[in-house]
Amino acid sequence: MRNLKEPLVDQHPQPDWIGEALAIELATPAAGTLQRRLYAALRRWVQQGRLPGGSRLPSSRWLARQLGLGRNTVLGAIDRLVAEGFLETRHGAGTFVAELAHLASLSETLPTQPAVLSSRGERTLASCRLPDSASGAFAPGVPALELFPRVAWRRLIQRHLREAPMEWLDYQAQGGVEELREAICHYVRLSRSVDCSPRQVLVVNGAQQAFESIARLLADSGDRAWMEEPGYVGAQAALAAAELDVAPVPVDAQGLDPSRAPRDRAPRLIYVTPSHQYPCGVTLSLERRLELLALAERHAAWIIEDDYDSEFRYRAQPIASLQGLADSQRVLYVGTFSKSLYPGLRLGYLILPNSLVEPFRRVQARLYREGHYPIQAALAEFIATGHFARHVKRMREVYRRRQALLRETLAPAVARGLALSPGESGMHLLARLPPGIDEQALMKKGAQHGMTLRPLSRHYLGEPATAGLVLGYAGATDDEIRRAGALLRGWLLPLFDA
Ligand SMILES: Cc1ncc(COP(=O)(O)O)c(C=O)c1O
Repeated sequence: MRNLKEPLVDQHPQPDWIGEALAIELATPAAGTLQRRLYAALRRWVQQGRLPGGSRLPSSRWLARQLGLGRNTVLGAIDRLVAEGFLETRHGAGTFVAELAHLASLSETLPTQPAVLSSRGERTLASCRLPDSASGAFAPGVPALELFPRVAWRRLIQRHLREAPMEWLDYQAQGGVEELREAICHYVRLSRSVDCSPRQVLVVNGAQQAFESIARLLADSGDRAWMEEPGYVGAQAALAAAELDVAPVPVDAQGLDPSRAPRDRAPRLIYVTPSHQYPCGVTLSLERRLELLALAERHAAWIIEDDYDSEFRYRAQPIASLQGLADSQRVLYVGTFSKSLYPGLRLGYLILPNSLVEPFRRVQARLYREGHYPIQAALAEFIATGHFARHVKRMREVYRRRQALLRETLAPAVARGLALSPGESGMHLLARLPPGIDEQALMKKGAQHGMTLRPLSRHYLGEPATAGLVLGYAGATDDEIRRAGALLRGWLLPLFDA
């Protein structure tokens, strides 16, 4: 198999591109003769590494014609660079950039200027922690990628790419491929009791884009947004990037507790994960659901219902979505294929109240542009022909087993007081640790053994109320869970002896 780290194509620029770059350079007004400027530009590019060693230059005849210069002018510049050792001529093959070993280290040591961002840019950057390298046991949120039916998926994509209508090469503005919107609508209506028609479905590049659009379109900067505390960092970042006044609202065993929200102003947006709170794993109680719906009506606020992993339920009867619970037009339901299929697909959906369909579609078509319609069509067929349901059903069994294995491995620590979240659904467990435990030290120890141990403190906007680890089990094989789980158990047990 091809090593993905190797460049797919030769890194040397096409000779024609060098001609075009030189034409742009010479078209810019500057002092000096044309020969001198040609020489200086080529020398600078070689020194900067923009023209890597081994790159072939176009012929002097071609360059002269392309640049509208006399051939002698071009030859004068090239001869000088050859004489200085920046270029070399190879008999019968042309002129090439010389391989100068010290240049690479020179360009690497050039001082880089600190980025100058706007103050909004700085604030956005501060809210965007670089995603951890999430691999191995127990990276949260990663599905069992090795079990994804790649062959069937590839066949579908190939066929849809081959058969795509010509219009799909152009810009699109339908809110997503019609068949996919229909398939999503059918699916969420049946499995999540979401109340919608295909028109209300907007296909987006993952849940993250839905959060961004919602924050941009439904709140003004400085407006209050309620965020579950602890909560999902992606949603925290989207709300902060929209310059909202994000108020963390504590989560308890019944989910987000509105009675503990700051009382000074009403929220404009309320972000919740009602089916499976991320990362605590609890379900928002019916009483709280009704309270939130009433509150949203009273304050003309919008509820963002993030239903990211509800495909994976293991015990209780499925809980209906918040969106479908009441005749409310104040809930925006967000779903994603990142967990049920794979995160790199970057496909999700937003189910909008009727009044918001046109504004959201228009903004999406203008700000983000729609595309990848053949992939969307392939996904529609993947769903319609039962591949999706089969894969989810199979993963449900695999994840149920993996969770049981993790519980079994950690059982001795649980017997001593380690508290694990309910785990009735989803792809991770939250392990609560005794107060004062150094999560960072555990995280580092894990990293030394190829494990991802995500500290709970990462999910707090304010002071963390408790210490813990978010343990993803879905993407770890049985062997990995046994091996890494045993190590983790060994590190946790002494913490409960004290
Ligand atoms: C709570 C929550 N919501 C949504 C997502 C999915 O986001 P996206 O569709 O942008 O991949 C995740 C993924 O980790 C998540 O944990």
